[in-house]
Amino acid sequence: MYVLGIESSCDDTAISIIDTSQKEQILSNVISSQIELHRPYGGVVPELAARNHVMVIDQLVSKALKQANLRIADMDLIAATGGPGLIGGVVTSVMFAKGLSIANNIPFCAVNHLEGHCLVARMNNPQLSFPFLLFLASGGHCQILVCLGVGKYIKYGATRDDAIGEAFDKTGKILGLPYPGGPEIEKIAKYGDPTKYKLPISMQRQDNCDFSLSGLKTSVKYLVDSIDKPLTDSIKSNIAASFQQVISKQIENRLSNAIKKYKAEYDNNKLVFAGGVAANSFLRGNIVKLCDKNDFELIVPDKTLCTDNGVMIAWAGYENYRINNLSDLDFKPRSRWLLYS
Ligand code: KG4
Ligand code: ZN
Repeated sequence: MYVLGIESSCDDTAISIIDTSQKEQILSNVISSQIELHRPYGGVVPELAARNHVMVIDQLVSKALKQANLRIADMDLIAATGGPGLIGGVVTSVMFAKGLSIANNIPFCAVNHLEGHCLVARMNNPQLSFPFLLFLASGGHCQILVCLGVGKYIKYGATRDDAIGEAFDKTGKILGLPYPGGPEIEKIAKYGDPTKYKLPISMQRQDNCDFSLSGLKTSVKYLVDSIDKPLTDSIKSNIAASFQQVISKQIENRLSNAIKKYKAEYDNNKLVFAGGVAANSFLRGNIVKLCDKNDFELIVPDKTLCTDNGVMIAWAGYENYRINNLSDLDFKPRSRWLLYS
């Protein structure tokens, strides 16, 4: 099958075409990033994001088709992010996909963006069967779930305040780093001393799988306020390294509880780490160590497929198609859409 995937729920307009009959399935994967557009504001401006998606989406679909050497009529399925996300962006993908679907008589599937992040891990890992433990960490979401199958999730825990990517981005802003802070913090943390500043690790003694990150971000703010300006590169690197270390400790602690719970309930030992934050090599490395200690196998999508992309939407659309879960043309774009019930 040829599947067109359309993603525009945040600040990337991303289009991909995959061929599910081949091993090397990605025929095209084009992304128009709005990072430069939002950078002066230190975060995504929803109205600007929506307008920009509308401006580039048709050219991007044409580009993806050209790269794949295919025509729209060759597509067997059109998958688009149906939510959750910034509503102006979600409306753009859904309406554009519906238009293509009606005009060309091709089935349409509205994909849950979070399910895209999760299921793309199965694209290159056919041996990854259900169920598995899922740690989903992106700019807007931080959840530990069990994935029982397509559309079937059980919640183990979630953040009580900020998502992990959000904590990275807000801390980056406090340190005066360019938006988005996540990759910037990872970059400079490599040169820093993680023991230089003592930052709090929340939730340590709680016997659950929830996260809390807003206190950490506030502690960084107080720390920065207490330091004589200007912040040198070396100070920034030390703060970034300490911050990243504390996040990693919280993840390790929360995932340890989740692994214990999962082991008692299921008889396999697989963990998928997905979402934009999974692009972070330091966190990936520490989760590998945790998995080794617990005799768990860690599966992480390729780095380029961790942050938002059209491939994950195309693939999740295909997985939904296989269980006959297509969408009607009256599907309404959703700013909120929980994976679990
Ligand atoms: O999944 P994603 O691309 O978009 C959402 O669905 O939110 O995730 C974006 C988030 C941003 O907060 C970004 O800072 C974070 O993922 N991120 C990272 C890294 N790369 C992206 N966070 C930490 N380290 C990274 N290398
Ligand atoms: Zn995402």
